[in-house]
Parts: sequence; C-alpha cells; structure tokens
Amino acid sequence: MLAKNDTKFNVAVIGAGYVGLVVSACLAKLGNKVISVDNNRKKIELLKSMKIPNYEPGLENLVRENVRRRKLEFSSDLKRAVRKSDIIFIAVGTPAKENGEADLSAVERVAFGISQVLDAYKLIVEKSTVPVRTGEKVKETIRRYAKGDIEFDVASNPEFLREGRAISDFLRPDRIVIGVESKRAASLLKALYRPLKAPIVVTDINTAELIKHASNSFLATKISFINAVSMICEKTGANIEEVALGMGLDRRIGKEFLAAGIGWGGSCFPKDVDAFIHIAKKTGYNFRLLEEVRHVNIFQRRHFLERIKEELWILKGKNIAILGLAFKPNTDDLRESPALYLINELLEEEAKLRVYDPQAMNKAKKFIRNVKFCRDSYEAVKGADCMILATAWEEFKNLNFKKIKTLMRYPFVADGRNLYSSSQLGSLGFKYIGIGK
Ligand code: UGA
Repeated sequence: MLAKNDTKFNVAVIGAGYVGLVVSACLAKLGNKVISVDNNRKKIELLKSMKIPNYEPGLENLVRENVRRRKLEFSSDLKRAVRKSDIIFIAVGTPAKENGEADLSAVERVAFGISQVLDAYKLIVEKSTVPVRTGEKVKETIRRYAKGDIEFDVASNPEFLREGRAISDFLRPDRIVIGVESKRAASLLKALYRPLKAPIVVTDINTAELIKHASNSFLATKISFINAVSMICEKTGANIEEVALGMGLDRRIGKEFLAAGIGWGGSCFPKDVDAFIHIAKKTGYNFRLLEEVRHVNIFQRRHFLERIKEELWILKGKNIAILGLAFKPNTDDLRESPALYLINELLEEEAKLRVYDPQAMNKAKKFIRNVKFCRDSYEAVKGADCMILATAWEEFKNLNFKKIKTLMRYPFVADGRNLYSSSQLGSLGFKYIGIGK
C-alpha cells in the first residue's frame, strides 16, 4: 500500500482515547514514528503493557505490531513528544455540557501545554470534533502563551471513523478533509495522507470543522427520517425494509444508514447533534430540523417500549431478556445506548431482567444494578415472557429459535433492530414485533 518515496513524519497524538489511539496506531502502520501521549499516567502504563481500554476489532494487534516495529510508543511526557514531532494531533475529549455545548477545556489545556514547550515550527492539527471557530481559539492560545515568536500552523482534520470498524475506516476513508491556512500546512498533511490514496478535500479551518458536525448530524437525520417513516409503515401495513431498499437504490439517497431501529446512540451522534444545535443558536439560527431529529430518536425507543407493554400488559414481575447492551455491534461502548434506556424504564416498572452482550458485559456490570448478567443468549431467555433484541450483533442472527421457544415462558420476540423476519419467527410459533413492519 505504501509507495517507496512516501514521506514519513514524526507525529505526536495528544489524547490516547478512542480516536487518538486508532489514529496513532494507523499512522504508525503507514510508517510514521508516532508518540501517543496522555496525561493519565495509569492509562499510559496500561497501554505500555499492551492493555487496550476499549474493544475495537484489530486494534490490539495493530498496537502490538507497531510497538514492536518501534513505530509507536506511549508517553505522558508532552514536552518530549512535542519537541520530537513535526505534526501534533489534538485528539482529546470534547464532552457535552448540560446545555449541549461542547466542553473545550481539554483542548485549551493541550493548546496551552503545547505553547509552553514549542521550540521550532510545528503543525498542530485538531482531530477532536470541535465547534466551528475552535481553530482560531487554539491559534490565539498558542500565540498568546508561547515563549518567543515561534512559527506554527493550526489545521483541522476531522475524523470520520466508526467504532467497530475504525481501522478500516481510517485506512480506507471515503475522503480526507483538511482545513488549513497555509500552503505549508496543506502540503504536510497531504504528504502524511498520500499513502491512503483517498480524495482529499482542502478547505479553510472553519469549513473543515463544520464538515464534521454537518456530516454526523446529516447521518443522524437520515436514520431519524427512516425511523419516522417506520411509524407510517406500522400504521399502514407497509414494510420499512422494502421502503428503505426502494429508496436506497437511488444513488442520490444511498443505501447506508437507512436501517430503522430503536434509534441512534453512542458517544458521537447524540453529542454532535446537540452541539450543532447549540452552534447554530449562537449564530442566531434556530436549527429546528435537528431538534426534531433528536425528538424522533427519543420517541422511537419509547414507542417500542409501548408496543412491548401492549403485548405483555403488566410489566411488573414479568421476565424479560435483553440481548445486546452496546449502542451498536462490534463495540463494548454503552454510551447513550438505547438498551440502557429500555433497562431503566423496565426496572422502573419492576420487570425482572436477564441481559447478555457479547462484549459489553464487563463495562455494564460496573453500573447496571438489579439485572441478572447471563453467559449467553440461551441463559438470558430462560423463563422469559419477552426477548428484546437491542443490538444487532452477528451472533444474534443465527440463534436457534427452536431451542429458544422451549426455553421461554411466552415465545415473544421484540426485535429492535429488524434482525429477524416475522414470517420466519411466526412459522415457529413466536409472537413477533419489529420496527415498521
Ligand atoms: C459516527 C459516524 O458514523 C462516524 O463517521 C464518526 O466519525 C463518529 O460518529 C464520530 O464522530 O466519532 P459511531 O458513533 O461509531 O460513528 O457509530 P455509527 O456506526 O455511525 O452508528 C451510530 C448509531 O446509529 C448507532 O446507535 C447505530 O445503531 C445507529 N444506526 C446506524 C441506525 O440506527 N441505523 C442505521 O442505518 C445506521
């Protein structure tokens, strides 16, 4: 994949969270020398002993391989990392505040930290998802506090990787967006990404920052749109999967992100949609469309629960199995997972819950109380009056439903991800509800 004459760089990635770690490992794979930095010493110690904090397919191997090749190291020494690097990525968290606004204090802290140790020209690149005009603030901060008149550039290079397929998203991106203010910054970033052979969109910094929020908000809108249509399908007997297929084959619409379900979650869409609404408000624009996108998402899971209630009548004392806790398959991330909403509501109604997830059990055990954690799907459905499918893990696709029927007290499947067909389960004697069909 790598042409012989491709330039290699010394790179520092500040923030060894989810995005920072993937970016570090992938840039190392491309042949750059990468220092992954975090101020959390405990995390750095764990990483040094090859313990990856999050489940991400392929990441552990990629980290191991590149540490062995001496292309990747972990450190909490910001000064050394900055001084050794040509390009410095800022990949720290930008969590949401109460009002939806992004909390940029970690970004400011890093910008200040860099200013204190800057000794020669560096390109400082925002990787974290940040509101438009953050680049201006990063630049101001470094200029203000730097010790001397040292040249530097700031750039924006938003990340579009998805949890669960982050490495292939990084190595085979649809596009790379770089927001720059100078030719020098543009050519450094173009050279860094040349091995990926993806289209590169070069813009100014504000535009690049906006592309990220607009992209995530658009994808969330697409899902909420199909979820809204699923409501009409339920009322009319139309089938949402066929509607999505018929729409998605139009290349202007596209097939992806048209799977109706119990809604979007995770660490990105909820936070980024809220942040974008907030950014718009600050400019004087009321982004009502996005507010509705968020409402549809909340309504979707509530409505699903209502339909379960309609079937089971009284939830108190009913045994309910929940398959899938993570917000989507191939991750152990529980943040804003629709499954957690269902668990809270069902516990509120005093249902008895047995839960199972292929990867997220350890994380879930840390904060979910009053449920029985099971070894597998079959243990979870034992004696159940309802099996809720909340996350579309591959292993749930091929369950033995004949066996499940013998294990359940009432054979009722509430399929929150349209993983099964109603005719398949119906013919086995199950009561089945899906989304929009
Ligand atoms: C999302 C974006 O897809 C990435 O491009 C972006 O880089 C990332 O946020 C980020 O900002 O860091 P991610 O949160 O990992 O990635 O998850 P997605 O695969 O986009 O799924 C988000 C949610 O939408 C999940 O809850 C998923 O179940 C749901 N979804 C997705 C649907 O309900 N229907 C669909 O058709 C697709």
